[in-house]
Amino acid sequence: MCGIVAYIGQREAYPVVLKGLKRLEYRGYDSAGVAIINNGLQVYKKKDKVAALEEYATSFDMRSPIAIGHTRWATHGEPCDRNAHPHVSGDGKLAMVHNGIIENYVQLKQELINQGHVFQSDTDTEVLLHFIEEIKKQNQCPLEEALRIALKRVVGAYVIVLIDADNPDTLIAARKGSPLVIGVGKGEHFLASDASPIVEYTKEVVYVNDYEIAIIKADELILKNISNERQTPYIQKLDIELAAIEKGGYDHFMLKEIFEQPQTIFDSLRGRLDAKKGTLTMGGIREYAEMLSKANRIIIVACGTSWHAGLIAEYVIEELCRIPVEVEYASEFRYRNPVVGPGDVIIAVSQSGETADTLVAIESAKEKGAIILGICNVVGSSIARLSHAGAYTHAGPEIGVASTKAFTAQLAVLCLVALKIASEKGSVSAQRFQHLLDELEQTSDKVATALKLDDQVKAIADKYKDARDFLYLGRGYNFPVALEGALKLKEISYIHAEGYPAAEMKHGPIALVDENLPVVIVATKDSYYEKVVSNIQEIKARKGKVIAIVTEGDQTIPPMADDVIFVPSADEIVAPIISVIPLQLLAYHIGVLKGFDVDKPRNLAKSVTVE
Ligand code: F6R
Repeated sequence: MCGIVAYIGQREAYPVVLKGLKRLEYRGYDSAGVAIINNGLQVYKKKDKVAALEEYATSFDMRSPIAIGHTRWATHGEPCDRNAHPHVSGDGKLAMVHNGIIENYVQLKQELINQGHVFQSDTDTEVLLHFIEEIKKQNQCPLEEALRIALKRVVGAYVIVLIDADNPDTLIAARKGSPLVIGVGKGEHFLASDASPIVEYTKEVVYVNDYEIAIIKADELILKNISNERQTPYIQKLDIELAAIEKGGYDHFMLKEIFEQPQTIFDSLRGRLDAKKGTLTMGGIREYAEMLSKANRIIIVACGTSWHAGLIAEYVIEELCRIPVEVEYASEFRYRNPVVGPGDVIIAVSQSGETADTLVAIESAKEKGAIILGICNVVGSSIARLSHAGAYTHAGPEIGVASTKAFTAQLAVLCLVALKIASEKGSVSAQRFQHLLDELEQTSDKVATALKLDDQVKAIADKYKDARDFLYLGRGYNFPVALEGALKLKEISYIHAEGYPAAEMKHGPIALVDENLPVVIVATKDSYYEKVVSNIQEIKARKGKVIAIVTEGDQTIPPMADDVIFVPSADEIVAPIISVIPLQLLAYHIGVLKGFDVDKPRNLAKSVTVE
């Protein structure tokens, strides 16, 4: 949530920061701003997307070798120019951008007001900046020292970056709980919330750790911990290419990412699964495989789309491994004092690897002695680093705010994890193991086939785009697929949509069914199929409009349905990876037909780093 970019070096800093903010806009787009040093500190900020800032800044002299920038997802204070970052200290010398939340800002603000501070915004960020300024003034100390003292009193999560008009050759940054990457160039440094603003300039990066402070000049990077001890920056090589974060000819990132899925699924399996040899290698969990197979129970914690992947994994793991699985919203799990301890395995599923709810959930479970397995997409992310073991999903950068390719990659990797545990435990027959390896290997091609439905799905989208509500139904492995279809639709088309287990319909939601209600039913051939056929009849008896996702060759459901989408046949364990494709396309096309910005849906942000 919120994107931060900063630059110091020989180039013009503002264009670098502006371009970086555009790349990070998926993290929030309520307002954007930059601070530069050009005849003193200059700050420019505007409500709305980065483009509004860009237009506003054209009338100013933006030359400067140093700049900090921010794109905001509002928490404290409405989206407006005044609440946009960077914020400025009372003496007008310091400017700061912040990602995260300062939880004790009310108390700090009162203390500062008592000391005579006046605030321009409603934000917690401005309070922190004034607090740092006050400490600097009272102690007559350098900014770095004032920051260190301030952070010892701050409760909350943050990445902050500061510039000081009196020290125009230095950026100062600190991190706790939110991500910060520093790109190391020749005589220049780039700071950002993720690597996407950095990759076109340098592949050498340092991931700043919690409680570290960075003092950065054009040709020097000093890292210190909160006790002022020097830390050695660990330089890593980025493994993403620029093309991966550009639209590549597609109208939207979301469409590009939907169409990348044959490749991303292939990438998530590559080097792990060899169906010909009948082998499955999971390097990231090798050391823990035996422990996992002996787990008392597995608890999957995640949010949103990743939680839906967790629900499917629950069915898969219980079926193959015969280990009890619970799936928890990370936010609920964290705060209800769960019974968890040694012998429990927590699987944290997260595309970004930075979701605050998931992160704090695993932190507390880890403290209580549980083993943490991270299934993340972003390499080097906080959740990945906090986990004892794990597997990356290798879907590449996901920029569209609505998750698509990360979801199918999560499903593929969770299937692999389940198979690995099952083979370690001996709870799956050799024949079934081999069959599932074959099925997984074919998934990428089947997804490519499902993507050919795009035109047909677009026509269906056109037919139903004006509906006020949608119901999504499925049973068994397809129930979470229905939840995911409904989430995608509401996120990007703002149509109210609910997902339900098809059998639950008769316990309430059937009251909604009439001739105006489109009901999307995921009814592929699996062990629940006959039951779903009955559910379709119940809807038709009440004149509901049925859009059925069925297996190729199905002859029973098509005559009953208003619209039918045929997807390739697959084992029920891997079928969700395929049956979700038309649901992603349906949501995409309805969102576009209604004229919405599907890559940046209102009120949302990609990486939810606040609790
Ligand atoms: C929905 C979506 C969100 C995320 C959720 C968790 O399209 O993207 O629901 O799935 O915010 O994010 P991660 O997976 O990054 O932990």
